[in-house]
Amino acid sequence: TAAILVSALGGYLSGSLPFGYWAGKLKGIDIRQHGSGNIGATNVIRVLGKGIGIPVFILDALKGWLPAWLAGVWVAQQGAAQEIISAAAVVAGLAAVLGHMFTFWLSFKGGKGVATTAGVLLGIAPLAMLGGLIVWLLFFFTTRYVSLASMMAGVGVVATMATVMGRNGQWDLVMLGFGILIMGLVIVRHRSNISRLLAGTESKAGRKKA
Ligand code: G3P
Repeated sequence: TAAILVSALGGYLSGSLPFGYWAGKLKGIDIRQHGSGNIGATNVIRVLGKGIGIPVFILDALKGWLPAWLAGVWVAQQGAAQEIISAAAVVAGLAAVLGHMFTFWLSFKGGKGVATTAGVLLGIAPLAMLGGLIVWLLFFFTTRYVSLASMMAGVGVVATMATVMGRNGQWDLVMLGFGILIMGLVIVRHRSNISRLLAGTESKAGRKKA
């Protein structure tokens, strides 16, 4: 329906706002030339510090949470069935993550989608977000690799969905499909990190090199 298309477009436009890139510009640098070259909050923290990186994380999460939440509210106001409301929220959230990863502001090259995914999940699947967060913290504090923690968190999100939410019903299957798709996208976007992890050259949190 038209509402789903509008949700997708709104999600994409919101997600494509490259806050990390803009934060770099504010500081007079092109973040893509520094650290890992990524526009995400991790690299902004690495290059410019927490004072700028944490706001970038929050904004990147908000740009996922807001469209997913708005789409649900908006479609609900039109008196749609629950499945349509949920579908609109999922589509808006997925579009926001894709917007971050393939932003038209930067010729369709963007970030890795971790913060934006966290925001979307907070809005539409908070339990899955919690499962992912626990896995993230576990891997982060044991290895200090943000990238590894992020990829494993993707697995944690899907595992949580499959065990807690995926018992029955069509809606849960849509949500699980969304989780698997996002996990795959996040992992694919981390290919350069995977190479560095295998080569032993990935930077650990608290150190300066990329
Ligand atoms: O969210 C991205 C993070 O998992 C890795 O970022 O800059 O180390 O490639 P980065």
